[in-house]
Amino acid sequence: MSPTPLPTPSPVTALTFAAKKARGEKIVVVTAYDATFAALFDRAPVDALLVGDSLGMVIQGHANTLPVELEHVVYHTAAVSRAAKRAHVIADMPFMSYQISPEEALRSAGRLVQAGGAHAVKLEGGQEMAAQVSKIVAAGIPVMGHLGLTPQSIHRLGGFRVQGKDHAAAERLLDDARALERAGCYALVLESIPAELAATITRALAIPTIGIGAGPECDGQVLVCYDLLGLNPAFQPKFVKVYATLHEQVSAALTAFANDVKAGTFPGPEHCFHAPVRPQRDAAKAAVDI
Ligand code: KIV
Repeated sequence: MSPTPLPTPSPVTALTFAAKKARGEKIVVVTAYDATFAALFDRAPVDALLVGDSLGMVIQGHANTLPVELEHVVYHTAAVSRAAKRAHVIADMPFMSYQISPEEALRSAGRLVQAGGAHAVKLEGGQEMAAQVSKIVAAGIPVMGHLGLTPQSIHRLGGFRVQGKDHAAAERLLDDARALERAGCYALVLESIPAELAATITRALAIPTIGIGAGPECDGQVLVCYDLLGLNPAFQPKFVKVYATLHEQVSAALTAFANDVKAGTFPGPEHCFHAPVRPQRDAAKAAVDI
């Protein structure tokens, strides 16, 4: 008897996020930037793939996310969404693709959905972004907010530092979170804020919070895939748990490959194609040479 095939898991949508919060089930989000990793993550018990503008740092090698342009995110989102059959795909709106006006924000979000295949977009900022959020949501595109350490404001914030540490800043973040919920966000990333404040915001909102450096009481967690896979040993901040040390396997594999090439042991016979004929031109040349 052939085994009963497993049921195809239903696709995760923005509505799944709300249902998970209602059931008290944690939401799992990871960044993805290419089709190979996206396909692997899609088969793992992960709810959503975020094509973060962190790609500016981990893919493009910049010191921050500010140089990332809309078309870069469109390109990576298209690669991820081609591979994702089940997971919800969220595209980050890069710096200056939404700040100028709600109209420009909608145009950029539309491109991420239409050319990138994103199911939702994410943007940074609080009440000052409410009009942008409403405009995009009114066009039928789900929007995830992002508060706390907002890397696109790195120069105003004075560096990658924990936010909301004093009473006034905490109040402002709570007000911002409520404003984003009212504007129509379906979820909210909370980055690098005290765990106590994240817990308060999470309880105050009906929409789920997704934490990164924001403690365990958020409704879900997100990490940059290269960080959790341990691809960069030089970057291990406090909020990251490293679940693998792939940098070790990558170096070992590349050293073994280099050694084989130098020793002439790669390619072996099993890696070669054989045909008993030689090109005519070579045969003619060989005849002349003789
Ligand atoms: O760009 C990104 O990867 C992000 C997550 C870290 C939340 O915004």
